[in-house]
Amino acid sequence: MPADILIGTQWGDEGKGKLIDVLTRNVDMVVRFQGGNNAGHTVEIGDQKYVLHLVPSGIFRPGVKCIIGNGVVVDVPGLMAEMKDLTRRGLDVSNIELSDRAQLIFEYHKRADAIGEDGATVKIGTTRRGIGPAYSDKADRCGIRGIELTRPEHLEKLFRAQAAKYNRRFKAIGQPEMDIEQEWARIREAAAYLAPFVRNTVYSVNAMLSAGKNVLCEGAQGGLLDIDHGTYPFVTSSSTVSGGACSGAGIPPREVRDVWGVLKAYTTRVGEGPFPTEQLNATGEALRNVGGEFGATTGRPRRCGWFDAVASGYSCMISGVNKLAVTKLDVLDDLPELKVCVAYELDGKKTTQLPASALDLERVKPVYETLPGWQCSTADARSFEALPVNAQKYLRRLAELVHAEVAIVSVGPRRDQTFEVR
Ligand code: GDP
Ligand code: IMO
Ligand code: MG
Repeated sequence: MPADILIGTQWGDEGKGKLIDVLTRNVDMVVRFQGGNNAGHTVEIGDQKYVLHLVPSGIFRPGVKCIIGNGVVVDVPGLMAEMKDLTRRGLDVSNIELSDRAQLIFEYHKRADAIGEDGATVKIGTTRRGIGPAYSDKADRCGIRGIELTRPEHLEKLFRAQAAKYNRRFKAIGQPEMDIEQEWARIREAAAYLAPFVRNTVYSVNAMLSAGKNVLCEGAQGGLLDIDHGTYPFVTSSSTVSGGACSGAGIPPREVRDVWGVLKAYTTRVGEGPFPTEQLNATGEALRNVGGEFGATTGRPRRCGWFDAVASGYSCMISGVNKLAVTKLDVLDDLPELKVCVAYELDGKKTTQLPASALDLERVKPVYETLPGWQCSTADARSFEALPVNAQKYLRRLAELVHAEVAIVSVGPRRDQTFEVR
């Protein structure tokens, strides 16, 4: 069996966690391939709500192998805390494997992230989890990787050298230095806890594929936050598009079968950066309140607006999305009419292409198409045919605009509030 990849097609928080949980019914392994604990993936099962940051969302299905792949950046005490919390809640974490090649995030990365944000004239609005500095160290070839968790003496040497380097930088700009002893004590404890989970996960993933098992790759963030393709510089620091799964998990491109694109029925964004269809008005507030649009990781209110087919279409194109999972359709239930951005106007010219420059994207005027709402509840619909006709039309139009088929619709946060479209 080949591998499937699931990615967010917008600016994150599309409902990837819920979809991974639903899809792992038929899956043997779930692999996170990029990002870190900047992600917040919510899964609701019965009356229990879980927010996962590094642990793959396949953890709720017994027997499913959960891989934290080589492309991930891992907050060492953060992952320990997350695994301990899941264990306390009765889940079995023994199926987790942590890549020996994954980059590790330490306190100095988080500090550097926060100092960078506080001092920047153009703020990105990061999650302050140290993501940018950790990927910078990786590219600069001075990062520390998962394998070192299994040899504490070497880890200590590398950690102390890096921490001292960061302290010199902090001092030079008048920032307080880190207490290296205190930090090392935290890392030593977490390393001892995590060491038994460290594996060469690339072999684990490829062995699964060779054995004909189903592997599902779990993207974090979304295509518009991609380091190359997103609204740079207002992006995260990893490859969030489907191609990132090949390098971030060690999967040959020829093994990939389906690319699932999770598409929220409207648009949200957390942090700074251009957002052409943002609604700074009662509509935006209604979407935020009805949709519960508050960050799963930082609690920040999410910016809300209409569906943007130019931006999402670009994202679906570069990821080669062939199956759409449209989420949060129910959030639109009460609206009398719905707008969909089908093009931009820039300097008096109409375009359906996403501009490279954030400055240009700030200036575009969305060209809207208006569709009628359905003004009744979709939360109990369990088939496409059971949806109000206007909701069916809305979904068909989104699919047409982004050139992919709707395969799954989600009408509420729970597992059962999902149906396949045949
Ligand atoms: P992720 O980062 O892509 O996994 O998404 P988040 O978990 O950050 O945000 C999605 C939020 O929407 C979570 O609170 C989910 O429980 C919730 N959710 C997911 N699907 C639906 C849906 O179809 N309808 C509603 N109302 N909520 C949903
Ligand atoms: P999930 O996986 C939404 C945003 C931040 C900020 C930018 C850079 O839950 O969809 P970073 O901390 O990565 O350097 O921040 O990216 N961001 C997310 N927004 N969902 C996420 O993850 C995000 N992860 C990062 O708000 O704008
Ligand atoms: Mg999220």
